[in-house]
Amino acid sequence: MIMSFLVVFFCFHSIAEMPPDSRHPVKLSQEQAAHQLAKMRTYLEIMADISDALKDKNFSTIESRSEKLVTLTQPRSSCGKETEQVKAFMQMGASLNQNARELLNSARTKHFENVLVSYSTTLRTCVACHSSYRQDIGGGKLSWPTKKK
Ligand code: HEC
Repeated sequence: MIMSFLVVFFCFHSIAEMPPDSRHPVKLSQEQAAHQLAKMRTYLEIMADISDALKDKNFSTIESRSEKLVTLTQPRSSCGKETEQVKAFMQMGASLNQNARELLNSARTKHFENVLVSYSTTLRTCVACHSSYRQDIGGGKLSWPTKKK
């Protein structure tokens, strides 16, 4: 009883302490948003599989899982008319693809140090995008407010 009170107290306390969400909203339809999250969950699963494989230095698993990540993060061709913010978001996705490629190459050459470095660079790209962007369901296309508050 006391324990559950404490859990509830700490949960609400930490929510109250959270700063307001100042990440750029990525406007998406319900369907696009669900699709994006499903893809993201696959990314996380791949990263977890790779971290399991790291402890055994299982290069073949690291190779096949990073190859999958490279395929899934293949950048879409741009129409050239995107706003600067949309381009920045797409660039972040392209960096993920690039870093996954480096991870794949390191796994192929079985260079463990390089695998560790490129795994962490890849993971940092996930972190960087999540610190800057959030989903905003409602619109049908990517857009951001043009003026800063
Ligand atoms: C180009 C930007 C970008 C990159 C790079 C990126 N994500 Fe995401 N991810 C997002 C956005 C946007 C959301 C939605 C977050 C929100 O609305 O709070 C998200 C959500 C998620 C979620 C939540 C899924 C759910 O069902 O709620 C997971 C897990 C996730 N990402 C994992 C990853 C992993 C792992 C990587 C790196 C391998 C990664 N993401 C790289 C943009 C990105």
